Amino acid sequence: MPDAGESRGRELVDLLAREHSLTPEQYEELVRSFSPALAAYAAELATAARREVYGDDVFIRGLIEVSSYCRNDCLYCGLRRSNRSAKRYRLSPEAILACCERGYELGFRTFVLQGGEDPALTDAAVCDVVSAIKSARPDCAVTLSLGERSHESYQALFDAGADRYLLRHETADPAHYARLHPAELTLERRLSCLRDLREIGYQVGCGFMVGSPGQTPASLARDLRLVEELRPEMCGIGPFVPHHATPFAEEAAGSVALTCYLLSLLRLLDPRLLLPATTALATLDPRGCERGMLAGANVVMPNLSPMAAREKYELYDNKAHAGSEAAEGLAELRRRMELVGCRVVVDRGDARRR
Ligand code: 5AD
Repeated sequence: MPDAGESRGRELVDLLAREHSLTPEQYEELVRSFSPALAAYAAELATAARREVYGDDVFIRGLIEVSSYCRNDCLYCGLRRSNRSAKRYRLSPEAILACCERGYELGFRTFVLQGGEDPALTDAAVCDVVSAIKSARPDCAVTLSLGERSHESYQALFDAGADRYLLRHETADPAHYARLHPAELTLERRLSCLRDLREIGYQVGCGFMVGSPGQTPASLARDLRLVEELRPEMCGIGPFVPHHATPFAEEAAGSVALTCYLLSLLRLLDPRLLLPATTALATLDPRGCERGMLAGANVVMPNLSPMAAREKYELYDNKAHAGSEAAEGLAELRRRMELVGCRVVVDRGDARRR
């Protein structure tokens, strides 16, 4: 029998599943009500909601880590500029195109070009790569994840053929944002980038870390509220994982179970959301990918970067990039997904239209 706290939690989960909207106070109560039993209940409704929109399909994206140079100094990230021990590299346009070709043969129809905020990734340079990919493979989507840029720059990349842009907001709580970032980076600026991207016509992805230092249930409630207000096509969430050469080296990692619970809440908040089971989840739990799917996720982003780049793109310690997290591991990923009732498809994997 569910106890009083749990029945209140179930009521809120039901309400979210029905209305796709809650007040900030209700979101906070829902986050605070987290328990394995409530999470199991939310996961059941979330997988049913996913199935109604996407069936059993799992979309894959080939992740190409194009540069590990970064001008920013985010306190949690191993690529921060103050990390002198970070190994820096930048892929040539030819190397990026070769990754896409290899990925295409493997069955990828979306390529995600992700990198630090590398000043060498000028509009001209990125536009050239994007249009080369789009002309070589017009049936593929190109997603960019290159951080904060000007409206003008986002427009140029869109005009060159980029379809989607991922820019995690990291936390929707301004005070918490300030604790995770140097003073020159603000939540306000982050959100204005997301609004620019949306206005230009990108399919937009935001997202946040779970369990980053200083996070509270109230901050997570604001993240959920933000997704409700912004209505992005995608939302990437993953547990915080410490990196040894950052100020947060000694902090505890985020919780996999809480991350999965939040995946379920996001699925109920918007059944059409593209929700990846992220690499951070797979890093902390060998069954992270399966657990993500069972919570309501429907996207996996295996690593398609050249081998030499993978270990250098060290956002956090022990970042997974083998097995199902690797493009070469697609057969293993397919098997594992089948065991949880899902099917990896060869498809661009656009969000279903509202
Ligand atoms: N733990 C978990 N996720 C991290 N990211 C960066 N550093 C960490 C970390 N230590 C995430 C951020 C960023 C994405 C590329 O990786 O959310 O947006």
